[in-house]
Amino acid sequence: MMIYHGSRFTFEAKAPPEQRTKALESLRDQGRNVPSVTSFLVGRDHSGEYEWGAVFVVEDLAAYGEFLAHPASRHAHRVVQPLLAASTSFDLTDDPDPETGAKIAEVRQRLLDAPADDDGDRPVHTRRAVLKAVAVSAAGAAVAGTGVAAPAAARTATAQAYAVAPGASMEVAMTINGRLRKVVLEPRVTLLDTLRERLGLTGTKKGCDRGECGACTVLVDGERVKSCLTLAVMRQGAEITTVEGLARGEDLHPVQEAFIRNDAFQCGACTPGQIMSAVACINEGHAGSEAEIREWMSGNLCRCAAYQNIVAAVADAAKEVRR
Ligand code: FES
Ligand code: FES
Repeated sequence: MMIYHGSRFTFEAKAPPEQRTKALESLRDQGRNVPSVTSFLVGRDHSGEYEWGAVFVVEDLAAYGEFLAHPASRHAHRVVQPLLAASTSFDLTDDPDPETGAKIAEVRQRLLDAPADDDGDRPVHTRRAVLKAVAVSAAGAAVAGTGVAAPAAARTATAQAYAVAPGASMEVAMTINGRLRKVVLEPRVTLLDTLRERLGLTGTKKGCDRGECGACTVLVDGERVKSCLTLAVMRQGAEITTVEGLARGEDLHPVQEAFIRNDAFQCGACTPGQIMSAVACINEGHAGSEAEIREWMSGNLCRCAAYQNIVAAVADAAKEVRR
């Protein structure tokens, strides 16, 4: 079985950029250094101000316990937590055994209920507490329910397990480019793979597949999101817009026209992501100057370095949209 442990973070507005970068790196170190992590995604997601996401995949309950107790996890927790205004975390599993979800929830519950370390670490990072919780869970003590309340002492607004899916597959319904689409998939499938592999919407590109390049940017409920960093099951009921959904028949979106006018691409691999990000950047009111555009488009990389023309296209489109 696989367990997918994910979190979405919103930083305190006053958290300095270098601290945020450090936080991102410590999350990456967590993925690289914890042996029980088989794969991970960490990245900045431009939906909302400085919202980031991380998903770690581990193989079973023992590995999950190890993951929570590992020093790299402790370290990441220490670096990230004080900077957060809010966070939401979740665990999903593709194990068809209905008891597995309850066991995972129980591990989390026990860890969150345990007293904090002397150094103020959250109890999820206390090795003894983790091992105890896993042992109890493995012995079969079942605790129903999936919601885990954050202790009052926690610095962040919330840290909740909002979903534990014990089934191997589930149905996800999303409105994509104005059309209701339903897909049955495993919880581990990213929104990006759902769009490309299941729905044939290959306009959204897969670059790094780990939240670093922005090629996979789509709009989710009007906000830009890196679709490789979010699981489709987390977007149940959402309105998704991909690059295929921008034009109205033969009429291109003003941002698409501006990209053509300004010759804002070379190989084109990053272009759909740049365009989706630009649409949101303009809607957010973050296209007032070249410097502002550069900052707010910084999550979208272009390996051909067509930045000058991309910035010009966004500024050009912003004028069109304002008109
Ligand atoms: S950020 Fe998603 S593919 Fe690179
Ligand atoms: S145009 Fe080639 S990666 Fe941007």
